[in-house]
Amino acid sequence: MSAPRDVLVVSPARPHQMEKLAQEYTLHRYDQSDDRSGLVASVADKIRLVMTTAGVGIPAGLIDQLPNLEVITSFGVGYDSIDIPACTARGIKVTNTPDVLNDDVADTAIMLMLATLRRLVVGDRWARSGNWSKNGAMPLTTTLHSKRVGIVGLGRIGKAIASRAEPFGVELGYFGRSQQGDVGYQYFNDLLALAEWADVLVVACPGGDATRNLIDMNVLTALGATGYVVNISRGSVIDEPALITALRDGIVGGAGLDVFHNEPHMNPAFAELDNVVIYPHHASGTVETRDAMGQLVVDNLIAFFAGKPLITPVN
Ligand code: 8YV
Repeated sequence: MSAPRDVLVVSPARPHQMEKLAQEYTLHRYDQSDDRSGLVASVADKIRLVMTTAGVGIPAGLIDQLPNLEVITSFGVGYDSIDIPACTARGIKVTNTPDVLNDDVADTAIMLMLATLRRLVVGDRWARSGNWSKNGAMPLTTTLHSKRVGIVGLGRIGKAIASRAEPFGVELGYFGRSQQGDVGYQYFNDLLALAEWADVLVVACPGGDATRNLIDMNVLTALGATGYVVNISRGSVIDEPALITALRDGIVGGAGLDVFHNEPHMNPAFAELDNVVIYPHHASGTVETRDAMGQLVVDNLIAFFAGKPLITPVN
């Protein structure tokens, strides 16, 4: 008899992909269950693979209840919501979905950059509210051209952002653990120095403990009143109370944010601020990219059950 092909679905891939998987594998829908502990207790021994997403991660204690767990497939490039060292210690492999989302996430960074500097949301409201016809043109904004763009974390997504920013005639600098040989952008080994230099600071590093509150009040102060923050990484990388104070008090000029602390329960203070452009963690949220991310989850799952090497392991 072959090994069980049972999957615990903590958070699914795309609906059409789940339908297809259900034809060949036994899917236990933790995500849809009214009695999750009962479900886990009844299938625990059979589960060798758990499917989840970066946003949901793994519920506390679940791994300990699954003695035969071998693989966690996660939908998303970031894996800060999964305790990787704990998985590694138990011999559990984790897979993510890198690269397929680079383009849409980098596009979103540029979108937020332009929308923030050019005050797109303010302008939209200006026209819709009738202010335009009543009071004339909205106040002038600031150009992206010739600005200094500092990227925090020049990984695959950081590089995709940099190459999209280049045609705007910006100067590019970056901060990261080490200088990269294959790019000509200015390297800063000190984040404060990058923030002092930059007009726009783009956060593109991984989330997690190593980068928690990296962008603090000192960094925001160094960026200054005519500086802007764009974050497409994780809310945790920015000290959010400090950012709110900085935005409110004019310590920084504005922010374009895709990610927040405690999603989806964004701090309502952001909604009160005109100098913030908000996107609800949707940088990878296109049908095309989400399909590609889901397919990578599916392909990792298929590889595992076929006894083949995982395609995108992170540990
Ligand atoms: C998704 C993300 O929104 O890839 C990531 O790490 O944060 C996003 O692309 C997320 O994976 C959905 O859970």
